[in-house]
Amino acid sequence: MSNNGLREQGKRNKEQSGRVVDTLGRPLHDLRISVTDRCNFRCTYCMPKEVFGREYQFLDRREILSFEEITRLTRIFVARDVEKVRLTGGEPTLRRGLPKLVSMLREIEGVKDLTLTTNGSRLAEMARELRDAGLDRVTVSLDSLDDAVFRAMNDVDFPVSRVLEGIDEAARVGLTPVKVNMVVKRGVNEHTVVDFARHFRDTGHIVRFIEYMDVGNSNGWRLDDVVSAAEIVAMIDREMALEPLEPQYRGEVAERYRYRDGSGEIGVIASVSQPFCGDCTRARISADGRLYTCLFGVIGHDLRKLLRSGKTDEEIAAFVERVWSRRSDRYSELRASETPELARKPEMSYIGG
Ligand code: GTP
Ligand code: 5AD
Ligand code: SF4
Ligand code: SF4
Repeated sequence: MSNNGLREQGKRNKEQSGRVVDTLGRPLHDLRISVTDRCNFRCTYCMPKEVFGREYQFLDRREILSFEEITRLTRIFVARDVEKVRLTGGEPTLRRGLPKLVSMLREIEGVKDLTLTTNGSRLAEMARELRDAGLDRVTVSLDSLDDAVFRAMNDVDFPVSRVLEGIDEAARVGLTPVKVNMVVKRGVNEHTVVDFARHFRDTGHIVRFIEYMDVGNSNGWRLDDVVSAAEIVAMIDREMALEPLEPQYRGEVAERYRYRDGSGEIGVIASVSQPFCGDCTRARISADGRLYTCLFGVIGHDLRKLLRSGKTDEEIAAFVERVWSRRSDRYSELRASETPELARKPEMSYIGG
């Protein structure tokens, strides 16, 4: 479509519904904010040491959005229908003063779900403070309960036990339901899937198994490394019978299953084998204030420039609406059909999961 055509389409999109939708009719509902591009882990599938070594240039402090800037942007997005806000990274708990940011975001009326994705390494110390600041719940990434496997995957020799302490503490202080995300990679941790499910079965925590994705340019992704959600479900179902659950809301990323004996649920995130772009309502802001309308988006729209050049909230809002109304991203669906070649995809640690 021509630029003019897109503009007209954008206008119609807004007029028809009263809320901004993109060219595929998808509203803007979730905002995922990366608060730092740094991480204390070097997960081999996300920040491999060969790329993220000593000489790697992380963002400078001045390049990163301040808490005031993040809060202002969030307010603008929430006024445009965003209800879910997730803080991510890198590892968000490395950002100094994170609980302060949480308390600032909590004050925004209209934020219905305020959450954090973390590797759990600092959760035992920080969970209570985050809860007191107003965080609703946490999602913890943990790729195996087998200590040797986990240490090798995080590649900084971090033990499982410390993450489990973090999960326990999060649950104790009420950051619930705690979700635990395991990225499954063929030949690396797939043999630990069933134990993982079994361990968390009666805990009230919700485990989600994630298909390994081709995010970024660093992880050397190959389709052969992906263990499909169907395989994962079959592995678990063989040992502990499962049945599918209905989605809780349109656009839910995870397909949910419950144990037939009633002892809890799991989710599988099939972003490779069964892409869910059709219902994707997520916008992402990188740590340096670029707006991405897809996890695989090549273009980051510079919101920081607008923030720092004296634009009004209305002007920034109009920019966001314009970007969203022209959005046509559906990378994962295209990957399935035509393997799109993208110039340089953003890294997960920069754009946030
Ligand atoms: P809830 O709010 O708890 O339901 O979280 P969620 O289901 O949105 O999942 P979460 O934020 O924990 O994301 C889990 C994983 O799903 C991420 O780490 C990604 O691997 C994948 N994921 C999340 N959102 C997207 C997306 O928009 N596109 C793709 N391709 N993958 C996504
Ligand atoms: N594929 C799937 N999930 C990934 N994550 C990071 N890199 C990938 C990848 N290549 C996950 C992390 C964490 C979340 C932020 O994203 O494990 O759960
Ligand atoms: Fe691992 Fe998450 Fe850090 Fe990436 S951001 S290296 S997935 S802990
Ligand atoms: Fe959304 Fe892009 Fe993920 Fe598709 S690939 S679900 S459009 S973020």
